[in-house]
Parts: sequence; structure tokens; C-alpha cells
Amino acid sequence: MSAPRVLSARRPWKDRRIVLGVTGGIAAYKCVQLARDLTRLGARVDVVLTDAATRFVAPLSFEGVTGSPPLMDLFSSRGAALHIHLAREADAVVVAPATADFLARAAHGRADDLLTTLLLATRAPVLLAPAMNDAMFSHPQTSRNLDHLEHVLGHRIAGPATGPLAHGEGEGPGRMVEPDELVERVGRVLGEDPLFEGKTVLVTAGPTRERLDPVRYLGNRSSGRMGYALAAAAWRRGAEVLLVSGPGTAPPPVGPELVSVETAREMRDAVCERAGEAHLLIFAAAVADFRPSLSRESKVKRRSVSRGIEVELTPNPDVATESRPFRRDDAVSVGFALETENLLDEARRKLEEKGFDMIVANDAAEEGAGFDVETNRVTFMTPSGEARELPLLGKDEVAEEILDHLSDMASERWTGRS
Ligand code: CTP
Repeated sequence: MSAPRVLSARRPWKDRRIVLGVTGGIAAYKCVQLARDLTRLGARVDVVLTDAATRFVAPLSFEGVTGSPPLMDLFSSRGAALHIHLAREADAVVVAPATADFLARAAHGRADDLLTTLLLATRAPVLLAPAMNDAMFSHPQTSRNLDHLEHVLGHRIAGPATGPLAHGEGEGPGRMVEPDELVERVGRVLGEDPLFEGKTVLVTAGPTRERLDPVRYLGNRSSGRMGYALAAAAWRRGAEVLLVSGPGTAPPPVGPELVSVETAREMRDAVCERAGEAHLLIFAAAVADFRPSLSRESKVKRRSVSRGIEVELTPNPDVATESRPFRRDDAVSVGFALETENLLDEARRKLEEKGFDMIVANDAAEEGAGFDVETNRVTFMTPSGEARELPLLGKDEVAEEILDHLSDMASERWTGRS
């Protein structure tokens, strides 16, 4: 069984106000988890339920996870002023699930309950997660409503996903996208940064595996977490993200385009092919420096090597260095240096040799840093000689700090040339 996800308050959800509208579909029960996760990430979540939503899930469930009672009634003295107040204060409005009926009312600008009224009154970005029967979803009127909501009113649409629908309805497009994905999509609404919009970020992540025979490989303990956190953070800021990843054990993030590779040479090929698209390249992969000179065709049998086996190793290509000729002139590049001794000297050497604009150094021997942990303690170094040491932080926070630290340099380099 996998360990439960531990969420704590962090950017871009922390201290933001989110209105979560829930309408009357079976997926409403999943939105208790959505409200809980957004609250754990530090957002203040105001839940607004339609009448029909209360038939599927009890208001008390939402109060239990957000700490405040959901709002339902337009026609109360509290409700009348409230929709204007909430609409003004919200940093984002999310409607999940958004039923066919709700989409029709929203597309026509109706204001016949608290949620639609609030939607007319707000100028915050709106994210809608449609969920309905597949026949209702494919009806031309629903398509028109969605088209209008997206292209005329500028609302963002998440899904629907394809898969099993409500009991007895079979499978098809119409499932609400899962709460985990919605949390990230809300993050992209809240995290948008003009510097990253329209930009492409390429991130390498995870370990590589170098084959010894069809069942064995040489590898390392990298989980991919640090690179995945960077890819997710750049995506939330509004970039298109290419994530070139070896077989890490952490779940890959929602949003970035995943290019899965296994060996260092495959990673080099994938990065060189796509490097020309990238405004920012972040080399967070733990690439195996060597591979067995001989990759055997069939499994090495224990009997045949009872006296041991010698494995000759050949150096692998350096992905960061080999991608340099393929990059844009205005590309910014960031490397990592994971060391067990002479941390800063080694990091400076790699910064210079590999021509990075910044290197993130960390000590593999230090508690809470390095492979296979949720946290990291890093020092940033740039060619000017500047070094900045950060305290022990979650890898998601480290990723945000790296992007912040790069922002001035990147904005200077990208200005007027995109
Ligand atoms: N790197 C790479 N391709 C490799 C090895 C490393 O792109 N074959 C990148 C890493 O992703 C990282 C940086 O280069 O951003 C430094 O990696 P590291 O493994 O610390 O350094 P090495 O070059 O392998 O040097 P050493 O073995 O001396 O530590």
C-alpha cells in the first residue's frame, strides 16, 4: 500500500482565497477531498453548494475539512451581500463537478442561485471541471456551451476525463478529472507568472538505468522527486514543460509533457532533439556516468559465473554538455551537483566546465538532503561567484526558490527576444 500524501501549506496555494462551487453530480463526493487538499495546502476555501449538490453530499462533510460551513442560499441577508464579497475576494473560482445544467446556466449568464450569481460578479479566473453522462457531454448544445465558456468568457476547462461513469452508465468521456489533478490545475491558475507564459522549460529528472543483461542494470537511488518538483513548479507558473525522465519512483507531475527514457544515451538523444525549444533547461537527472561495455543478449546464469564476474564500464555521454550546440542563444541553464566532499569547490568546477548559469549544490551525506527524501538543503552558485545557502526545505519549496532565484537573470536574457 502506498503511503498517504502529506500536504502542507506552500506556494502558490498558501494564503490564497478559493471559491469551490460544487454542483449536483455523483463526482461531488470527490470534491470533499479537493476541498481538504486545497485547505491543507494553505488556501482559504469557501465552498458554495447548489441545491442539487446537497442531494449528493452533506454540507457538514465540507465544513469538516475546511472549517467553515458551505454557502448555499442566495436569498438570505447573509447571502445577498456575500456573493459580491466572495466574488471580489476570490483569487480563483473552481466549479467541480460542473454539470451539464450548470454549464448551460453559466454560458447564458443566468444568476438563479448563489453560485451562478457569484460567477457573474467575479473577475477572478474561473476553472470548470465538467462531469456528466457521455451522451449529455457529446450533445451539440453542451459543446456550444463549453465552447462559449472557454473561448468567449475565457474560463479554463479541465477535462472531462474518459473512463467509468456513474453506476450503470458504462464508460466514456464525462468523468470529472481526479482531485489530485484539479489541485495542480488550480495551482496553475494561482501561480501564473508573466515571465514564464509562452516559455518552454526542459527538465531532466530521475536516474538512468544501464543494462547489464535483459533483467539487470546499473543504476542509482534517485527517485526523480527534485526534478519533478521543478517541472511542476515551472508548469504552475505558466510554462510549457518537457520532462525528460529516467525511471524514477516518485509519481510524475500533472501538466508537463513526459518523455520517458531509460539509459543515459536515450536521455542525451531526447534532450538534444528538444533542446532548441527550451528557454530554460534544468539538469536535475542523476545520470549514470558509466555503462557496462557489453550488454548481454541473454540473462547471465549464476552457474556460469560461479567464480564472480568482471564488468567493464564505458563512460556515458554528458547530457548537459552535449545539448549545448542545440540550444537557443537566449537559453538559461541550471545544473545540480550532488557531492559527498568538497561540495562548493566541486560545484564551482561543474558550473564552469558545463557552462551553467547557475548550479544547485547539495551534500548527499547530510541528513534530509540528497536521494530519496522529501526535503533538500541546497546552495545556489552563479558564475559571478555569488553563493546563497538555503535552510532545509521541502523539495517543492526548493523548486520555487530556484525559479525565483533565476527570474532576474532569465528576464534580462529573454526580454525582447522570445
Ligand atoms: N549530468 C549530465 N550528464 C551526465 C552526468 C551529469 O547531464 N552524464 C548533469 C547532471 O544532471 C547535473 C550535472 O551534470 O546537473 C552534474 O552532475 P554530477 O553527477 O554531479 O557530476 P558529474 O559530471 O557526473 O561529475 P562527478 O562524477 O565528478 O561528480
